[in-house]
Amino acid sequence: LQLMRCADFFHLRCPLSDLIVKAIQKNDFLSRLDDEQTAMMVDLLAVSSYKPNDDVIKEGTEGDSMYIVAAGELLVTQAGQTLRSLTTGDVFGELAILYNCRRTATVKAKTAVRLWCMERQTYRTIITNKSKKKREQL
Ligand code: CMP
Repeated sequence: LQLMRCADFFHLRCPLSDLIVKAIQKNDFLSRLDDEQTAMMVDLLAVSSYKPNDDVIKEGTEGDSMYIVAAGELLVTQAGQTLRSLTTGDVFGELAILYNCRRTATVKAKTAVRLWCMERQTYRTIITNKSKKKREQL
């Protein structure tokens, strides 16, 4: 409840968390989170930075994090082929978390990049916490 109040407050006041909430809502996978889970996610995201040409994700490796682009541009490639570019508000790296598979593509920074990231374990905790509460309500 405390988390919820805090995030509600920021939602009204802070364009940054507004941007994160919008990014979550436009992603097929993350839009399944309810308001409370979204608020927890906004609270628990960590920030990381990359230089141009850094690989954030390497195709075929094991992955533990998913990301929301805060600033900058990245390129998604698969077997050397460009699939798309990513920019502020785009979500990536969610597939390995969702399906427990290896990274399906490489994601490289085109410019200096700032990302919000969430580890698999944190995401799991948000989901599990919710289903536990639901069970307790029955
Ligand atoms: P993941 O497989 O965890 O790591 C690589 C990421 O690249 C993947 O999650 C998606 O977020 C993204 N990705 C993979 N394939 C595509 C595609 N065809 N178009 C856009 N993004 C993709």
